[in-house]
Amino acid sequence: MCGIVGYVGDKPAEGVVIEGLRRLEYRGYDSAGIALVEAGSIVSDKRAGKLANLEKAIAESPLPQVTTGIGHTRWATHGPPTDRNAHPHLGRARRVALVHNGIIENFAELRGRLESEGVEMASDTDTEIAAHLLEEQLETGVDLTVAMQNVCRGLHGAFTLVAIDAHDPDRVVAARRNSPLVVGIGEGENFLGSDVAAFIEHTREAMELDQDQVVTITRDGVSVSGFDGTPAEGRRYHVDWDLSAAEKDGHDWFMRKEIFEQPRAVADSLLGRRGTDGLLQLDEMRLSDQDLRDVDKIIIIAAGTSFYAGMVAKYAIEHWCRIPVEVELASEFRYRDPILTSDTLVVAISQSGETADTLQAIRHAREQRSKVLSICNTNGSTIPRESDGVIYTHAGPEIGVASTKGFLTQLVACYLLALYLAQVKGTRYGDEISQVMDQLDQMPDHIQTVLDKAEQVYGLARDHVGSRSVLFLGRHAGYPVALEGALKLKEIAYLHAEGFAAGELKHGPIALVEEGLPILCVVPPRGRDQLHDKMISGIQEVRARGARTLCLAEEGDTTIVPYADVLITLPQVPVLLQPLVAVVPLQLFACELATQLGHDVDQPRNLAKSVTVE
Ligand code: F6R
Repeated sequence: MCGIVGYVGDKPAEGVVIEGLRRLEYRGYDSAGIALVEAGSIVSDKRAGKLANLEKAIAESPLPQVTTGIGHTRWATHGPPTDRNAHPHLGRARRVALVHNGIIENFAELRGRLESEGVEMASDTDTEIAAHLLEEQLETGVDLTVAMQNVCRGLHGAFTLVAIDAHDPDRVVAARRNSPLVVGIGEGENFLGSDVAAFIEHTREAMELDQDQVVTITRDGVSVSGFDGTPAEGRRYHVDWDLSAAEKDGHDWFMRKEIFEQPRAVADSLLGRRGTDGLLQLDEMRLSDQDLRDVDKIIIIAAGTSFYAGMVAKYAIEHWCRIPVEVELASEFRYRDPILTSDTLVVAISQSGETADTLQAIRHAREQRSKVLSICNTNGSTIPRESDGVIYTHAGPEIGVASTKGFLTQLVACYLLALYLAQVKGTRYGDEISQVMDQLDQMPDHIQTVLDKAEQVYGLARDHVGSRSVLFLGRHAGYPVALEGALKLKEIAYLHAEGFAAGELKHGPIALVEEGLPILCVVPPRGRDQLHDKMISGIQEVRARGARTLCLAEEGDTTIVPYADVLITLPQVPVLLQPLVAVVPLQLFACELATQLGHDVDQPRNLAKSVTVE
């Protein structure tokens, strides 16, 4: 939520900052702005709307070619998305320019104090006060680094702040609390960004920071301290993906590119998980086998798409490990006073690793002495850093706001966790675990088979451009798939879409069914129990009431043929693994339908990629 860039070096800062903002625009696109230091003064431009508006303004009224600057792309929290509320915000002496991501909770009180001292606010934001407070500090004779430390000690809430001082042109200073910030380390130049995408075309050497730290970058150095001024060390790491991963690669949307990257992302997330002894190993997990043996309950916390991955994890863990699992929306978790003990394992699933709801939930769990394991796609992000252990997914950067490859790789990590727990707890034999691992190893090929039929799904999407509402039905592991299919359609096509457990339909939602209503049905594989047959009955019931049934069913399932108005076949895979293939046509469907409707698929209205406010 909000993208932040800072640069000091030997290149024209305008280009570096604007390019960084372009790569971070998925984090918010309500407005964009830039500020540069030129010969003792600040030059700034900022515009409501997408980055393109700012670029147009700069083209008409060029900025000076200087080498220190900051930039911001906004997802509005306080104050509507106008030019006035766009960042950067300047202090009243125009000495400091500042950008911010997060929410300063005590801003009203600070604003009141500043206004009583005669400061006139130029915006409705919570951010602006920090620019004035920094100037106040600078007037006492301290430098920008000390000013930032002093100001941050008085702020409550979540914030990343990045500031420049007109009197100190070779320095950019940033601070973070509960909001993302990484440092990019170059030669004769250094960078700040909300994530590494901001500077990946310049350097793949990065540094992560802890909470409540201030970082100062100059051309030649990076120094870190606590808010109290105590020197600290950031943790350096190498980013293992390059610029091409952050490019669209010939696709119209990042989302479409990311859907097609899924076979690779799933394969990468499975890589290196089996030791030479054939046993499953999760090296980065940091939790001992004894810790895991002691676990008597698991609570999975997550938001949105990651929550649906958690629902699939519940089916897998309970089936393979016989440990009770609860799945909880992160935003609800700590408010219901959950029962947690030191034998409860809390699993936090987050693609970005920065979701505020999930972060606060894991903090609550750790306060109750529960162990927290995170499943995350973003190295250096806050959630894995604050967890006792982590399983990283290897999806590469996910830039489309709607999660796709993030979801599939989360599923992989959930299966790995479930199998690993089964291995250490001895609830499944080794050869059974190996057999599931073999099936997982085949999934990239199966996903590719589904992708090869994209044209059929696109045709289906085009046929439904006029639909006002689409329902999704699933059972068992297909139920979270139905929910995810509906979420995708809501968020990028702005269509009414709802997912239901097929068995629940007759308890109310079937009243929605009317002539011609499209219903996407995720049919479980044929096999044990009556899951498949029960689903067919549900499909018959809606079809009898006029629904148009669009069915996803495994290859060779002829029983579905009489009841499917449209049939999309899926590879034959076990029911627990079916989400990995079944969700792919639903992603393609939403992507194409939104494209046909003329929406911006990568940057849907009102959304941002990583939701760093509660
Ligand atoms: C949906 C989507 C969101 C996220 C949710 C959690 O396509 O992207 O629902 O899944 O905001 O985000 P993470 O996984 O980053 O915690």
